Amino acid sequence: MMIPQTTPLRPETALCSNLDRRDGHLRFAGQDTIELAKTYGTPLYLMDEDRVRYNCRLYREAFSTCFPEGSQVLYASKAAAFQQMCRIVGDEGLGLDVVSSGEIHTAKTAGFPMARVYYHGNNKTDEDIAYAMDAGVGCFVADGTEELLALESEAARRGVRQKVLLRITPGIDPHTYAAVSTGQVDSKFGVSIETGQAEPFVRLALDQPHLNVAGFHCHVGSQVFWEDVFERSVMVMMAFIRTVFDHCGYLPEELDLGGGYGVRYVENDPEIDIPRKIADLAEMLYAIAKRLDLPVPKILMEPGRSIVADAGMTLYTVGSVKEITGYKRYVSVDGGMSDNPRYALYGSQYTCFNAGRMDEPADMRCDLVGRCCESGDVIQPDVPFPAATRRGDVIAVCTTGAYNFSMASGYNRMLRPPVVMLRGGGSYVAVARETLDDIVRLDR
Ligand code: LLP
Repeated sequence: MMIPQTTPLRPETALCSNLDRRDGHLRFAGQDTIELAKTYGTPLYLMDEDRVRYNCRLYREAFSTCFPEGSQVLYASKAAAFQQMCRIVGDEGLGLDVVSSGEIHTAKTAGFPMARVYYHGNNKTDEDIAYAMDAGVGCFVADGTEELLALESEAARRGVRQKVLLRITPGIDPHTYAAVSTGQVDSKFGVSIETGQAEPFVRLALDQPHLNVAGFHCHVGSQVFWEDVFERSVMVMMAFIRTVFDHCGYLPEELDLGGGYGVRYVENDPEIDIPRKIADLAEMLYAIAKRLDLPVPKILMEPGRSIVADAGMTLYTVGSVKEITGYKRYVSVDGGMSDNPRYALYGSQYTCFNAGRMDEPADMRCDLVGRCCESGDVIQPDVPFPAATRRGDVIAVCTTGAYNFSMASGYNRMLRPPVVMLRGGGSYVAVARETLDDIVRLDR
């Protein structure tokens, strides 16, 4: 699919080809953001469906040229989980990584082919396991021995043989922020190779009559730029596969490397060329397999952020511009940490624009803040906006497609924004705006 090429905003803000400007207005996916704000109201999550599809195809095409047949791209639905997103990625031929009964229910009710669903998580309850088996989830990613035994017992009760992958901790530091690092030995996820616990875990799994052990899974971290993090995972995991084969005679069919490729939030972030990365990874995988005298397993990856992040944008309306004389300015908008907690949680950077004043120089520095009742409610500090910024202006925060909608909360009983999809010059609502009645719906 062709992504229409638009004129970059300014060289320093050419974050993604779906951004440009016309007549002083910011456009997203070729559409006027001021018009979209008028039509749908703010705060508003926009999602460029063409870009999501394009990102899916980048992965799919790279996988089909580089990895053995049967290799699969799973969209990590935690990045943005709602029914229409499941339909889109399903339509693009991807599988799905889910981590809760809620994500499973979203996929199932969207008509997603459940055989292509992989269920992760470090603490699946008995109810979760039963619900997932009822729903026909294709594969469980078992995180530890207790879960393994719980899976065995539920599969035995049903008289089925359940496909599982085993989550292994490869002992790799992904050099990203701590909250999203999972591959190092000290992690709540998976069973460590380094401590010698992984091999007995595999043996235990192979001994279970109602589990079909398809292979191994690892995930090292998220928003990863560090050059060889997946390559190191491949190295560690293939060496582990060799050891397990030598000791138990077991060869996995599938090796799932997890997600994690970083995206550009600001101009200084590097750009990852996904097809190139995958080609390099594959070359290395084949070389290692040859060296270790092993067959190349089917490869799975679970991208979340790199599928949806640059397809997203959030629009807000300015309520006030407050100047503390001789100190700084605050621009307050009608959303906040309730729809985007990422700066508050991780200090994440974003590129922000005054969407209706794109032709004016951005010569005023200010903190872009929300309207939640705490000082930590900062969307982004030290943002450049035009000096004329005032109440009623529309602010755009770019690259909010991943982990914004999905991490939105009801703090201060703020209403969650709707998700509006942009496709081929048109738009439609994929998730409706929460209402005041929704807020009290479960109150008794
Ligand atoms: N697979 C597993 C097992 C994961 O834990 C994750 C992310 C992914 C795949 C997808 O990784 P991605 O391709 O999206 O980097 N809330 C944080 C991100 C948490 C990521 C957790 N796991 C944020 O807003 O940055």
